[in-house]
Amino acid sequence: LPLLAAIGVLAYCIGSIPFGLLLTQFGGAGDIRTIGSGNIGATNVLRTGRRGLAAATLLLDGAKGVFAVMCGFILSPFHTGPAMAVAALFAVVGHCFPVWLKFRGGKGVATGLGAVLALSPLTGLACCAIWLGVARLTRISSAGALAAFAAMPMMLAALNHTGDGPAIPIGGLLIALLVIARHRGNIRRLVDGTEPRIGRKRP
Ligand code: G3P
Repeated sequence: LPLLAAIGVLAYCIGSIPFGLLLTQFGGAGDIRTIGSGNIGATNVLRTGRRGLAAATLLLDGAKGVFAVMCGFILSPFHTGPAMAVAALFAVVGHCFPVWLKFRGGKGVATGLGAVLALSPLTGLACCAIWLGVARLTRISSAGALAAFAAMPMMLAALNHTGDGPAIPIGGLLIALLVIARHRGNIRRLVDGTEPRIGRKRP
């Protein structure tokens, strides 16, 4: 148990690095929290008009999830399932509630996708395909994210052949619930029909 707690703390620290904020600030695009939705994720970085910074945010936020799960795997020679699940969940928690930003972080989409890619590459790839496909069709990033994370726990459960018990599907379910909860405002705007389309700048 102490090992799982240590893995959780490490994953939280990895997840809590706010790349969207750092890249926009050091890239001269201003404080991302004062732009568009105010979110620190890649979708909102794209609203600054800086595509390169948005792509870098997406990749680096995704890498946090991959790296955290890899740490869980490496640090726990036995029971790798629970260790990877804890690492995945706490990387997303770190991204959503970073202590450095008074716990006001992002929505966990890129970090969650990275974590799921590392937990189950097939599920991760399918989720990325759903996210990109729905976002492309609707031109709404949050719609893609919601569809991908709604489908993710079921896919993770179906593809869980690790023989490591239910830890990974349970971790996936908790990540999905967290990501969907973080999209409360987006869901409200989707219902109202006021959710902005991708790439459109918002003052
Ligand atoms: O990845 C977050 C995305 O789903 C929504 O971001 O900035 O439109 O609230 P945003």
